[in-house]
Amino acid sequence: MAKIIGGITTSHVPAIGRAIAKNLQQDPYWKPFFDGFVPVRKWLAEAKPDVVIVLYNDHGLNFFLDKMPTFAIGAAPEYRNADEGWGIPTVPAFRGDAALSWHLIESLVGEEFDLTTCQEMKVDHAVTLPMALLWPDQQWPVRIVPVCINTVQAPLPSAARCYKLGQALARAVASWPGNERVVVLGTGGLSHQLDGERAGFINKDFDLSFMDSLLTDPTWATQHSTHQLVELAGTQGVELLMWLAARGTLGAQVQALHRNYHIPISNTASGLMLLEPTA
Ligand code: DHB
Ligand code: FE
Repeated sequence: MAKIIGGITTSHVPAIGRAIAKNLQQDPYWKPFFDGFVPVRKWLAEAKPDVVIVLYNDHGLNFFLDKMPTFAIGAAPEYRNADEGWGIPTVPAFRGDAALSWHLIESLVGEEFDLTTCQEMKVDHAVTLPMALLWPDQQWPVRIVPVCINTVQAPLPSAARCYKLGQALARAVASWPGNERVVVLGTGGLSHQLDGERAGFINKDFDLSFMDSLLTDPTWATQHSTHQLVELAGTQGVELLMWLAARGTLGAQVQALHRNYHIPISNTASGLMLLEPTA
């Protein structure tokens, strides 16, 4: 039986790609951010996962406004990055795990999560940069299954629905007969708003409460509607839905092996958590 051994939740910001390309990891602006990943990399080196399920939101690379699935999942043998217009080098292709993907799809659709299945799928900075932070040599030692949640075009799935998606993913992984060690990576958030009158909006109190809630009361954020989450965390801060879905995969109780929070990275409050299921 495959096993979810941990969850990692992190922000994603295109400027990280530029910082990596220019080797700015020790630069005073970037150091508090990059240093946050050292303990997570150490844990990964020991935990040796086989597969990473990446919960992320696409930003217009694979899906555009004309076709916007609420939930989509990759079932491809490999996933490539492509130019998103940031001028940042693309990363090497990721190996997929089509057999596991199809099992997850069967299980999730069986549980009435009607995902869009993608036998070809380009992955954007929300996949590539967190992966590059976890494996800086970019020699990916894992296969990936990307799962995309719409946070770009209204209406978005509710926080409760995303949490339940995570729970359903956990059941799907548990019923896979292989003995893969699986890490779930949720990328996005925390509070940020890139446009409009509140551009630059960050809400540290909310972010810290949200991070705490993942340990003490994981469905706490599901009390809020999408509009309330936008109000509290900003238009793009609603990417925290990925964190909720990731937390949903980890069961009733978790412990935080590591956490980091740093303001700002570009326009974003950057958060990082390494969670281990304990029950
Ligand atoms: C920024 C943050 C994001 O989540 C994103 O997708 C693009 C840009 C930023 O803070 O610059
Ligand atoms: Fe984003």
